[in-house]
Amino acid sequence: MYTRTNPFIARIKERYLLTGPASTKRTYHIVLDVSSGPLNFNVGDSIAVLPQNDPHIVKELLHRLNLTGDETIFDSRSSTESTLKQYLLEKANLAKTNSNFIKLLQTYGASLENLLENKAELNLFLQSHSVLDILKRHFKIMLSAQELASHLMPLMPRFYSIASSPKIHPDEIHLTVAFLTYTLQGEKRHGVASHFLCDQAEIESTSIPIYVQPSNGFTLPHPDTSILLIGPGTGVAPFRAFLQERLAHNAKGRNWLFFGERHRNADFYYESFFKELEKQSLLRLDTAFSRDQAEKVYVQHKLLENAASVWDWIQTGAHLYVCGDAEKMAKDVDAALQQIVREQGGLSEEDSRLYLKRLRSEKRYLLDVY
Ligand SMILES: Cc1cc2nc3c(=O)[nH]c(=O)nc-3n(C[C@H](O)[C@H](O)[C@H](O)COP(=O)(O)OP(=O)(O)OC[C@H]3O[C@@H](n4cnc5c(N)ncnc54)[C@H](O)[C@@H]3O)c2cc1C
Ligand SMILES: NC(=O)c1ccc[n+]([C@@H]2O[C@H](COP(=O)([O-])OP(=O)(O)OC[C@H]3O[C@@H](n4cnc5c(N)ncnc54)[C@H](OP(=O)(O)O)[C@@H]3O)[C@@H](O)[C@H]2O)c1
Repeated sequence: MYTRTNPFIARIKERYLLTGPASTKRTYHIVLDVSSGPLNFNVGDSIAVLPQNDPHIVKELLHRLNLTGDETIFDSRSSTESTLKQYLLEKANLAKTNSNFIKLLQTYGASLENLLENKAELNLFLQSHSVLDILKRHFKIMLSAQELASHLMPLMPRFYSIASSPKIHPDEIHLTVAFLTYTLQGEKRHGVASHFLCDQAEIESTSIPIYVQPSNGFTLPHPDTSILLIGPGTGVAPFRAFLQERLAHNAKGRNWLFFGERHRNADFYYESFFKELEKQSLLRLDTAFSRDQAEKVYVQHKLLENAASVWDWIQTGAHLYVCGDAEKMAKDVDAALQQIVREQGGLSEEDSRLYLKRLRSEKRYLLDVY
């Protein structure tokens, strides 16, 4: 059994852009080679990736503190020794710090007192400054290798939905990874794990430590049961796996996918696979390309356009799945489903809410949102 402290070492076999040259984002299809397994997993499961920090950031940090990286440090979390460089690359969160780090700097005279007294301001500061940002602001402060290592938060694993079926690709795990970029302190920044997977890791060479994070019931029902899949953006990943698995089992249940992204011509992930299934009448496909017209069109708009049919699928036992953004999408989709139940089923506000609640408790309405 592979775990965070005993991960499986995979390598990237293949990596290509799912987004076209005209896209305003970069999303990659990544194929991990897991042939040296066995690594047991099912569709619906996720993979936890233990990423590495950007070596350029580590180098800059070491340079800033006049350290070489060869210093030996003791990691009290794992009770192991390593070089500072290895610790900074693999174990430390360099993007965010906490009040312990601020307190340490204070002992060296950094003028950050007010920050510790004002929780809201402190949180804002911690959210918007990396370790290096803070040390650059307090350029006179020097820390020892051990002091630095002992005051950093741990680098956490990142999760990615498995986008392939082990029945079709037994020696591989496919992922659909959005490359996260944003601007902070006037500088372009990358998400740690998406940068590692999409850019830094070398094909067939870099070790990718992973383990399986089993889904909590987010998996296929009986092969005869209809499934209604709602997966905009990278939320489509597990549904590619579901559909591959249904093909492998020659499953008789109906499949309906709602996919959404920014532009049809640049962001239609796995278009040929889904179109081919549609052509063979193995998939009903509805798409919402949000930025192809003046008004935003999202997956929930497509659900509402097809309200009578969606209600019919629900009434005849279909299982509903939602994957992708938790903050807004999943809530808006839930509201649309509630509207469909209310209007099509002639139920009150309260009864339509209870109806969806019951579907959830019966594990017929499942979410994997992040
Ligand atoms: C169960 C599960 C399944 C998932 N499946 C997938 C999947 O299939 N595909 C996929 O791509 N992702 C998936 N994710 C999300 C994934 O785990 C990572 O969270 C994502 O890739 C970002 O990680 P990162 O290390 O690249 O970014 P991080 O280094 O974690 O950076 C993200 C952080 O950057 C900061 N940030 C972001 N934007 C800004 C901004 N504008 N200003 C200031 N700060 C900002 C925020 O603090 C944010 O928390 C899944 C998550 C879960 C929990
Ligand atoms: N922090 C950031 O800046 C940032 C940016 C992108 C993604 N993310 C996060 O990264 C993860 C992966 O993102 P992703 O690449 O899979 O794509 P995504 O950002 O989830 O977008 C996929 C599609 O969903 C649309 N969308 C936006 N709001 C929606 C809503 N309320 N309901 C339904 N659809 C909605 C988007 O439209 P529009 O974009 O045209 O509105 C786009 O067409 C998500 O967790 C997301 O929240 C963060």
